[in-house]
Amino acid sequence: MCGIFGYIGNREIVPVLIGGLKKLEYRGYDSAGICVSKNGTLQYIKKEGRISELEKEEGLKKISGSIGIAHTRWATHGKPNEKNSHPHLDCKKEIAIVHNGIIENYRVLKKLLTDEGHKILSETDSEIIVHLIEKFYEGDLEDALSKTLKLIEGAYGIAVLSSKEEKIIVAKKGSPLVIGVGEKEMFVASDISPIVEYTKKVIYLSDDEIGIISRGKYIIKNRDGKQIEKDLQEIKWSIESIEKANFKHFMLKESFEEPEVIKNTIRGRIKEGKIKLSINLDFKKIKRIILTACGTSWHSALIGKYLIEEYSKIPCEVDYASEFRYRNPLISEGDLIIAISQSGETADTLAAIKEAKERGAKTLGIVNVVGSTISREVDSGIYLHAGPETGVASTKAFVSQVIAILLFSIYLKQEKGEEIDKELLLEIENIPDKIEKVLFNSEKIKKIAEKFKDSKNFLYFGRGINFPVALEGALKLKEISYIHAEGYPAAEMKHGPIALIDKNMPVVFLATKSSISKKILSNIEEVYARKGKIISIVNEKDLEIEKFSEEVIVVPETLEELSPVVNVISLQLLAYHIANLRGFDVDKPRNLAKSVTVE
Ligand code: G6P
Repeated sequence: MCGIFGYIGNREIVPVLIGGLKKLEYRGYDSAGICVSKNGTLQYIKKEGRISELEKEEGLKKISGSIGIAHTRWATHGKPNEKNSHPHLDCKKEIAIVHNGIIENYRVLKKLLTDEGHKILSETDSEIIVHLIEKFYEGDLEDALSKTLKLIEGAYGIAVLSSKEEKIIVAKKGSPLVIGVGEKEMFVASDISPIVEYTKKVIYLSDDEIGIISRGKYIIKNRDGKQIEKDLQEIKWSIESIEKANFKHFMLKESFEEPEVIKNTIRGRIKEGKIKLSINLDFKKIKRIILTACGTSWHSALIGKYLIEEYSKIPCEVDYASEFRYRNPLISEGDLIIAISQSGETADTLAAIKEAKERGAKTLGIVNVVGSTISREVDSGIYLHAGPETGVASTKAFVSQVIAILLFSIYLKQEKGEEIDKELLLEIENIPDKIEKVLFNSEKIKKIAEKFKDSKNFLYFGRGINFPVALEGALKLKEISYIHAEGYPAAEMKHGPIALIDKNMPVVFLATKSSISKKILSNIEEVYARKGKIISIVNEKDLEIEKFSEEVIVVPETLEELSPVVNVISLQLLAYHIANLRGFDVDKPRNLAKSVTVE
């Protein structure tokens, strides 16, 4: 989803801005642009398509300076084209803005501005911001922006540049912005990825705050215009962790990081047969837990329901965040709402948490990005420590989320004073090695991918705690290979999907050992009888399943509650290899965004 980057310092700016935009590419975008201020003039260039296209523009070579803003746009209002891309400029071409979020009342403001004679060139909601600033500008950019903010409704992260003032002004409401503080230079971005190579010191802006950044100096003001002190935070992620190393794609790199990621998620949290979590909640008061999330994180939430109910015996529900926030949920004080989010910025998940808080529930976040909006909004939280995830299709964050929820579930049991199964804790620590073994299968899975890469459809079946894994396998495939795929609980097959099965239908079965393995075998036979092409994920050579399967992927056996994290690896690799063999841009699938900061 849209990305913002800005720089003020002494470096020659074009390579800095272009480099920053490349770091934001993973968020998903369809056009990009930059604007640089020098000697009282704004120089700008915008282009539909990839940053690599923007780089080829002749005009870019003529731009120089050391103050500028840049943007990657993901179309919401208006087509992805040059006119609609950011930065947007005022009529006199003296002020430029980049904006993330949605201005809900832009239509009425557009009418007002047009009536006053402003020439609005794009179809976007964003452009009205710069014309409002122009309208209010009387030699003080900050004052003009403050007046503008009073008029606009909706969500925004904004960076503003003027040809007349040596500063960048930023403002935030509902869309993330972070300021990077360097030596005599400052950065601003929608996330830390373009900043981390320059500085590890950052300030996360909160809603309704304004930041005024100039060379070597920053000032933060609250909604009343009062200057406030904010703590500098130290970023722990290294530049290497957000680069691709020798992998062709981030998604593959991030899949191969999964053993390490799980070690990081559990580090310091399993000690002397106990779970150590610093959660500041009174568990005795919790009567019900609601897990809320979107996308892949919603699938971890589904797994979480099994785990939480199993260990804590507290009733647990799962809701899409987008549904929860609008369905007038019945919430009471005994409810704990848990938001699961890799980015910590997903608009629907954030809104769900706010809604829950307003209705008196306690909130907990299971979030990867430290300092993200959700992590700051919740009453308490568990960080994943999965490191930056760049591939749009989530891989390592998913396994880390499942492990974090498992730790939390066991912790709930422990808090009730119940005995913890030591074997389970030991097995959690063994999981990284087991995942390592699945990753060794990558070449074999690639061969399976070659065989099925031209299929038009795929079905994924699992049961119990592996049903959400079937959903996740199908989601991974459709996200990056554009093959239609559906996941189902295997027993539901007879209520619909069975009608689709013929000799052209690949059907992936999660058939590892479980309390209901036998049932899965009969589902496999039913597909076989209809000539479906079966790909089975099993624990060891199982002659019976092999008899019916076109392909078998053997993965190490583990406890049933941990099987999703071992099983999902093969499905992530299968989706990756198929998408790669089909020649698609795996890390930046069409129409998708990594961080969905609008509704
Ligand atoms: C987008 C991403 C998905 C992700 C979902 C939720 O759709 O493409 O990979 O699962 O958002 O994101 P979150 O950051 O809240 O986990």
